[in-house]
Amino acid sequence: MANDDQKRRAAERALNRVRPGMVLGVGTGSTVNHFIDALGRSGERLEAVVASSEATARRLRALDLPLTDLNQVPGIDLYVDGADEVNAHLQLIKGGGGALTREKICAVAAREFICIVDAAKRVPVLGAFRVPVEVLPMAQSLTARALMKLGGMPELRIGATTDNGNVLLDVDFGHILDPLGLERAVKSLTGVVEVGIFATRRADRLLVGTAAGVEEVTLPAG
Ligand code: 5RP
Repeated sequence: MANDDQKRRAAERALNRVRPGMVLGVGTGSTVNHFIDALGRSGERLEAVVASSEATARRLRALDLPLTDLNQVPGIDLYVDGADEVNAHLQLIKGGGGALTREKICAVAAREFICIVDAAKRVPVLGAFRVPVEVLPMAQSLTARALMKLGGMPELRIGATTDNGNVLLDVDFGHILDPLGLERAVKSLTGVVEVGIFATRRADRLLVGTAAGVEEVTLPAG
């Protein structure tokens, strides 16, 4: 079964968690696009929808969904987003689409964060997918050198400018054995706006589209 069908399965399953009157946060990427399409078809009456990128905002607007700014709502009830990698602890690498900063803001603002992926995104150890890091343009070289001191191999994503006007470094750290520690270390570097490791705020629920159906993973409370 093609990855895209698996993505669609996971995305459509996430719709079961959406309730009328919710403030919904919507991520970015091809998996989320299936979710947006399903949301549009459902006719669900939401209180408001917060987008994690300009691309997502355009798609939501086209479907007449009640788009709002995060500052206009007290929080997000449910945030639905994809990922580039996910481990068994529901820690993620995100930002392949370059929207990691707004995505992390939405995830942190959300009461529940559901991650929707195809089966290829599940990994035993994070790190085969290079970690996207959003950096202020004037600090690009400074931050690249600091990332190398942390053991990373950064590469500028050529031609990419984020919705916030910044650049992206894709960083190969090899196997990431301590996602929490690495997230904190990268985030603390001067010039870094955000890092695409979602370990401090990981997903609460994972929906994996597979050839056989949708597998659901949640973590034990605590
Ligand atoms: C965008 C992201 C996406 O969630 C991630 O890249 C997965 O994308 P796709 O659903 O297209 O496979 O983090 O910044």
